[in-house]
Parts: sequence; structure tokens; C-alpha cells
Amino acid sequence: MSKFDLEPDACSFNIVVKAHCVVGRTGDAFKVFALMLQWGYSPSVVTYNILVDALCREGRVEDARGLFDEMEREGIEGNTITYNALISGYVKAGKLEKAEEVYGEMKVRGLVPDCYTFNILSSGYSKFRRDWRGESRKLMNHMLSLEVLPEESRLDVLVSSYCLNEQIEDAREWLQCAIEDGVPGSIARFNSIIAAYSKRGMVDEALKFYHVMVENGLSPSAATCNSLLIGLCKSGRLDEPQELMDRMVERGFCVNLSAYTICIVSYFRAGDVGGARNCWDEMERQGIYPDVIAYSAYINGFCRANYANEALDAFYEMGRRGLIPNNFVYNSLISGLCRIGNVEEALKLEWEMRESGLVPDIFTSNIIIDGYCRERMLDKAIYKLKETYANGMVPDIVTYNTFISAYCKDSDLGSAVNFLNRMHLEGWEPDIFTYNILIHALCCSHTMGEAMGKLDELVSVGLVPNSVTCNTVMNGICVDVLDRAIIMTGKLLKMAFVPNAITVNLILSHFCKQKMAKRALMWEKKLSEVSFIFDDATENILSWARDKQEIADVSMLDSGKTLLLDFLLHITYDFLLRNEPPNSRLLMISSIIDHGFRKSSSMMDVT
Ligand SMILES: *[C@@H]1O[C@H](CO)[C@@H](O)[C@H](O)[C@H]1NC(C)=O
Repeated sequence: MSKFDLEPDACSFNIVVKAHCVVGRTGDAFKVFALMLQWGYSPSVVTYNILVDALCREGRVEDARGLFDEMEREGIEGNTITYNALISGYVKAGKLEKAEEVYGEMKVRGLVPDCYTFNILSSGYSKFRRDWRGESRKLMNHMLSLEVLPEESRLDVLVSSYCLNEQIEDAREWLQCAIEDGVPGSIARFNSIIAAYSKRGMVDEALKFYHVMVENGLSPSAATCNSLLIGLCKSGRLDEPQELMDRMVERGFCVNLSAYTICIVSYFRAGDVGGARNCWDEMERQGIYPDVIAYSAYINGFCRANYANEALDAFYEMGRRGLIPNNFVYNSLISGLCRIGNVEEALKLEWEMRESGLVPDIFTSNIIIDGYCRERMLDKAIYKLKETYANGMVPDIVTYNTFISAYCKDSDLGSAVNFLNRMHLEGWEPDIFTYNILIHALCCSHTMGEAMGKLDELVSVGLVPNSVTCNTVMNGICVDVLDRAIIMTGKLLKMAFVPNAITVNLILSHFCKQKMAKRALMWEKKLSEVSFIFDDATENILSWARDKQEIADVSMLDSGKTLLLDFLLHITYDFLLRNEPPNSRLLMISSIIDHGFRKSSSMMDVT
């Protein structure tokens, strides 16, 4: 500016202060602030609002309060935005009484609360108060009764209140009525409903309202975009977030920490470790600092994908940054280590966990017991069980199922039944997992009659068989003698027919076992015609079949078996086809976002 002989004004300073805060460099923001004072510029309430908000976001709410008091001493009065920032800071710190006190001050000053005040307090109630619905409702009624509150703000409060209370249909109705009555829309109102739908993973609904919002001449804000990002991730539309993120960066909108965290969780859930890692790196590049929740998600994701070493790296990094891991983080890591067979390292972590003042719980014990069982170290598992009792914990159904499954795998049905009885004595009823374990064991020991008996029992106690039950029984059927297999197929169809992609693999592999490679390849063709997703296991089976296709199928020797397998695969195929989730991409993200951004004007809110 000096090069062009231009004088900065207070507004220029505000912009630079804000810019530093947006990228999380609050310290530098204060340096700019100091410079501003030194050069004799007077900060305004806007300057203070930016800084108070930044301090609150960093969890430094007492410093924020100090700055607020300083501002008042300088004769500058706080406005609704200042108060909202401060209230939000106290809510984030879990100091709800303080937040209410500040709200009280605000009322005494005669300042009008808005929809944000309401949202901040309500979300605090939902986090920290048991009767939060009651309290939220009281707050809503109080706000609605405020004489000074303009009609439109009242509508904002109402819509966001319904969204918070998970009465999204009511919110929708109010919003729609307002639109039909020609009431001017507000960003807050639309953001409430877009956030609510996104959180539920109903992103098409969210996008519809986004569309209406833009049609009404309102510009999407950073919050709108973050919500949509969350919605896309939650609904598993993982090819689209990147595009939206790029557009947000273009617009100068920050993807916030919650959105990044949800993206990371979603990538891991979809099995895309690379995608999750990219998202993490992008977050760090944008200068957003991960918190305990983000680290928890990252560590847990790695552990579940069997990347225990990456998880440990993240864990140590977290420690270096001064973040304190919680039970969830430790349990994830212990589980990740057990999964790769490193129970000793897992035990060290359990010890470390205790050292750091956390109390390992029954989840922790279950993970370690399962680790030993996987390694076939049942003695050590039993020892751990005794230690669990000694530490004052009681085993739960997961503990029992782990032992029952381990003994079954060891073909020690006697000990498995012992544990089943013990479990019964302790007041636990077998669940669907217990039944699946038992049915699997009985199928493996070729006592199909008893396995089917268990299936009867399972249904008669009111449990619902799942696809694991179906696959277990079907696997047994495929290797059984034909007459009985046919009878059992009838029973399976009636009681427990819930096939999935694994069922397809299972039957295809039986074709291969029966040396009917051509038949398997014929099915491959049929399945790929309906865009069935082949996974690695399918590919392995099929590549085996391709190698063997020169050899003539020996199906003629046992045409009954071929017919049975054909029949099973046919009904599976039919079932999967009928239950395919509908392709619901009503709205393409690119077109709709472009549309919104074209209409929107400048986003600067620093003047
Ligand atoms: C990020 O944005 C979403 C959607 O607007 C919001 O619900 C969430 O509270 C925001 N998170 C943070 C850390 O600001």
C-alpha cells in the first residue's frame, strides 16, 4: 500500500487480523493488533470481535473475557456478535453457568439475542445437561417471547430449534411455509436445515435446500459448504468432496476441523487409507490443527485397516503436540496391535495407559483376550480373564463369545459349552454372535443336523439371523450330501436367507472346488452385466477359474450338485439385484455448487 502511496485504514487492519485468525495464527493476529495501536489506529468492535472469537476457538475463554473487559474500558461496547463469541467460548469449555451469566449480561444491556445465541446455548445444553430437550424448549420459548426479537429471527430460532431437537420434518414445514408466504429467507435458517440433513447423511435433501437458498438470492457461507461436505462424506459419496473442497479454497472458505475429521472417518470406512491420509495432509497444509477427536479418528482408522505402525506414529505425534490420549485412543491402538499379532506391545500400552491415570475397562480386557485367542494362547487369555475379575470388572457377552469362539476353533466343543453354561449362570443370554459361532462350529464338524437345530433355536428365541448365519449355513449345505442339502436349502430360504457379496464368492469358490471353472466364468459374465462389485476375493477365485478353463467341467459326474449350486447362486443373484440401493444421485455437486457461487457476492465480513 505504501508503494502505491495508499494509507491503510482500520478496515485494512481488520482484514489482516482476521486473515491470521482464519489460518489459526492467533499470536500473529495480536502482533498486527499491537501494530495497529502503535500506529495510532483505533480498533473497533469488529476488531475486538475477531480477536475474542479467535481466543474462544482456541479454548482460551478467560483471555477472551479479559480482552472483552479491556474493550469496554476503552469505551467500546460489545454487540451481539461479541457476546455470542464469548458465550460460545464458555460453552466449548463446558462452563455452562458462565455462559448463562454472559447471556444474562447481554439481556441487561438490552442487546437482542439471535438465532446463533440460541444455537450456541442449545448445543451446550445438549452436550452437558441431562434434560437438554426441556432446557432447549424453555430457552426457545423465552426467546420467542422476547418483544424485541424481529419476526425473522424468531423464525430462525424456531427452525434451528426443531433441527436441534431432531424434529427435522417440523423444521422443514416451517421453512417451507415461510418461503411460500414470501418471508425473506435467512442464511442461518437455511444453514440449520442443511446441517441437520447433512448430519443424517441425507445429502440430497440438503442439496435441495441449498438450491432453494441460492434461488432466493442468498449466498452460501463457509458453514453451508462445511455442512454439505459432511453430508457427502456421511452418505459415502467420496468422489465428490474433493471437488467441493477445491471450490471452497477458491472462495477463501476454510474447511473446518469437524468436516476434515468426518471426511477422514468416511475414507477409512470405505477402506480408502490413501484417501484418508491425503485428507489429513491437506488439513495440515491448510493450517488446521487436529484435536484429540481428529487424532482418535485417524489412529482408529489406521488400526482398523491393520496399519498399526502408522497408528503408533500418529499416537506419538499427538503426544508431542501436547494432546492427551483418552481410553478410545488406547483401546484402538491396543486392538490394532493385537490384530497384527503383537499382544506383547499391546500389553505395554495397557500398562502405559494405567500409568497415565486412565482406567482400562472391559473393552480393553476383551481386546487383549481376543488378541491371545487369535494367537491360540488360550492359557494367557484365561489368565487375563482372572486378572479382569481381580481388577473388579465383570466379563460381558463379548468376553464370553470370544472364549466360545476360541474353543470352537480349537475343536474343543466341551470347553465351549462350559463357557456357554457359565455365561448363562451369569445372566447373559446367547446373542446372534454366539449362535453364529456355534452354527459355524457344528457345520465345520459336519453335524449339519445339529447346526440346523441351532438355527431353529435362534429363530425361536426371537433373534434375527443375519448374512453371517446365512453364509455359514450355506457353506455347510454346499459340502453336504445332496438329499439333505436340498432339504436344508428349503429351510434356509424360509428362515435365514440374507445373502451378500460374500455369499457370491462362497458359491463361486464351490464351483471351483467342484472343478467347474467354466460354470464360474459363466456366472462372472452374468454378474458383471449388472455391475456387481467384484472384490479381491472374487478376483482370486475367478483367476483360478481362468487358468483352469481349458479343462472340461466335470459337472456331468455330479449334475445334482451343479444344479444345487446354480440354484443357490441364482436366488442370491436375484436377491442382491432386488435389494440394490437405488441410485440416488439426483443432484450433481458440481453444477449446483457452481450455480451457488456464481450468484454469491463478496464474503468479507470484516468491515
Ligand atoms: C464445522 O462446520 C459444521 C457445518 O457448518 C458445523 O456443524 C461444525 O460445528 C463446524 N465445526 C467447527 C469445529 O467449527
